[in-house]
Amino acid sequence: MDRYAIMGGTRLQGEVPIGGAKNAALAILAAAVMTNEPVRIENVPDVTDINVLLKAMERIGVKIERPERHLVIIDGSRIESCIIDDEYLKRIRASYYLVGALLGKNKQAEVPLPGGCNIGVRAIDQHIKGFSALGAKVRILHGSIAAQADELRGNHIFLDKVSVGATINIMMASSLASGKTIIENAAKEPHVVDLANFLNSMGANIKGAGTDVIRIRGVEKLHGTDYAIIPDQIEAGTYMLASAATHGDVLVRGVIPKHLECITAKLCEIGCHITEYDDAVRVSAPEPLTSTQVKTLPYPGFPTDMQPQITVALGLAQGTSIVTEGIFENRFKYVDELIRMGASIKVEGNMAVISGVPRYSGASITAPDLRAGAALVIAAMAAEGETIIEDTRFIERGYEDFELKLRAIGAKIEKVSSDRELKKARLRLA
Ligand code: EPZ
Repeated sequence: MDRYAIMGGTRLQGEVPIGGAKNAALAILAAAVMTNEPVRIENVPDVTDINVLLKAMERIGVKIERPERHLVIIDGSRIESCIIDDEYLKRIRASYYLVGALLGKNKQAEVPLPGGCNIGVRAIDQHIKGFSALGAKVRILHGSIAAQADELRGNHIFLDKVSVGATINIMMASSLASGKTIIENAAKEPHVVDLANFLNSMGANIKGAGTDVIRIRGVEKLHGTDYAIIPDQIEAGTYMLASAATHGDVLVRGVIPKHLECITAKLCEIGCHITEYDDAVRVSAPEPLTSTQVKTLPYPGFPTDMQPQITVALGLAQGTSIVTEGIFENRFKYVDELIRMGASIKVEGNMAVISGVPRYSGASITAPDLRAGAALVIAAMAAEGETIIEDTRFIERGYEDFELKLRAIGAKIEKVSSDRELKKARLRLA
């Protein structure tokens, strides 16, 4: 099992390039099977979640070529089965995007459901509501979601809860339904808009993505396309927070600054200096940071996927901060690890009350999930002394070349896979 060894206390400085958005890519790759013509997708991040999804798609007969690291060509013309039976796939939540895609194209799909999750209950009632409203019969059978329809017909769907996944799934299935679908209370995240743009480039007719009412006029079939995925808002935000917590000065390159406004606004409040360029954002952070209040909300609110990273920075800010988790009920699990590094944080229900401390101190800790893992790496870089983060797998689900990119901006971090390598790394990091 790989570990990160990190020697803290370095100010991050320099430039970091941002890759394609993992959560947009998961939806777009799944949607690419909806045509029988080849689809060429650029800017696909090379992270585990994406690679697992691609493997599962290959298993059902989708032809996948990857001529370059970030370029994927998908040919969904010879799908042999609409049943995904893949142990791997249970590990990624986004596997259920294949339900929307295959139900739309072939009017049937069966996909294993992910089990419990480290960040809380991950209900799928809104997905089921959406598929059923389009005329599908949906059953949960032996740990899988199975959906089948003789014909899909457009409908007026009011989501009871803003859900990125349900919005995406309904958008996919209804693109190939007959008639008009209206999704009310839709999610507005950048990757929802990216998927709509992608489907439209394949001949779909989707209007209003990015607002809370999305209108889809079903078409008979979709065609091939050539598309580039948007930059990853959360990867960018993570490096911005890493700069803030280490009192660094980092230029985060290849981003859409508009997508980062919910993050830049909070960084300004805690005393960081932000400069926006056409496709880059520079974050420089004075010492000390100041406290603030944050509540995670659907886009354009502050993203839940940035909650652990901002909590880590606020743990080092002067005064008392409050972070309220408004999306998932169990996303403060990492706080225990942060407390072991010297943070002063009390969690009550969905709220963390943070009394800033001058610094963290290195410890041996575990990454409980993807974003919390990245946040703990930030804490380690800001800490005094050495931190060992056990098990890098969660982090690699969503961050490409994490330690390489961090090293390029001055972090002292190494990935090691044995005790022997750890010993050597310690000598280099000291
Ligand atoms: C997406 O998950 C992202 N995943 C998550 O990113 C992100 O945290 C989340 O949106 C919120 O922004 C992908 O895009 C692959 P939701 P998703 O449906 O679609 C409840 C990361 O770190 N809900 O918007 O699963 C649900 O329990 C990951 O990259 C229902 O009640 O999230 C949650 O409380 C982690 N019923 C809230 O809605 C449903 O049918 C939002 O979930 C569906 C969801």
